[in-house]
Amino acid sequence: MAVQFTKRITDYRLAKELFNRGKSIILSQEAQATKEFTQHGETTVFEHCLAVAKFSLLIAHFLERTLKIDIDKDSLVRGALLHDYFLYDWHVKGASEGVHGFTHPRVALKNADRDFELNDIERDIIAKHMFPLTPFPPMYRESLIVSIADKWCALAETFKIDVSSYIIYRVNFNIALAEGMYSINSGDTLTEALSDHKAVANI
Ligand SMILES: [Fe+2]
Ligand SMILES: [Fe+2]
Repeated sequence: MAVQFTKRITDYRLAKELFNRGKSIILSQEAQATKEFTQHGETTVFEHCLAVAKFSLLIAHFLERTLKIDIDKDSLVRGALLHDYFLYDWHVKGASEGVHGFTHPRVALKNADRDFELNDIERDIIAKHMFPLTPFPPMYRESLIVSIADKWCALAETFKIDVSSYIIYRVNFNIALAEGMYSINSGDTLTEALSDHKAVANI
């Protein structure tokens, strides 16, 4: 059953759904600022949040199909995209307010509340994603899902296991399309179109 499920939910469909549900955040200058900060290994905070959103969606689809549990997938994706919106380099000494692992959910929530319109589920996702390092457990199933997805992605990124490069590439491609940086002109040769495509992938 698990194999059949993964076959149906392809990375392509997940990337499309993730972008559609989270595009108001993904396309914002504010969220894209997280491309400047490293999270784990060579992964940026922006890439890490995309990976967490992907696995959160994957878990949500699995729960909906197998256990018929309803998940608010818009809030799930938006919360996942903003769960590490702390906006500093945590590797730099003194950059965080106290011990980063314990304090960054509060900072991320303060920043996200300032820059985006959040609902209660999205706030809870951000505030509780580090549980049990933070004292209060997740109040919503969406928060629990993001917390689990976050731990898996952190592990994969630390040990350089590639679990999200395709989704990151697709989302960056969609950003470039939305910003008008890439278009397929009928006069382009295939080689020109493909080389443009490759350049966009490196954004
Ligand atoms: Fe975090
Ligand atoms: Fe995280």
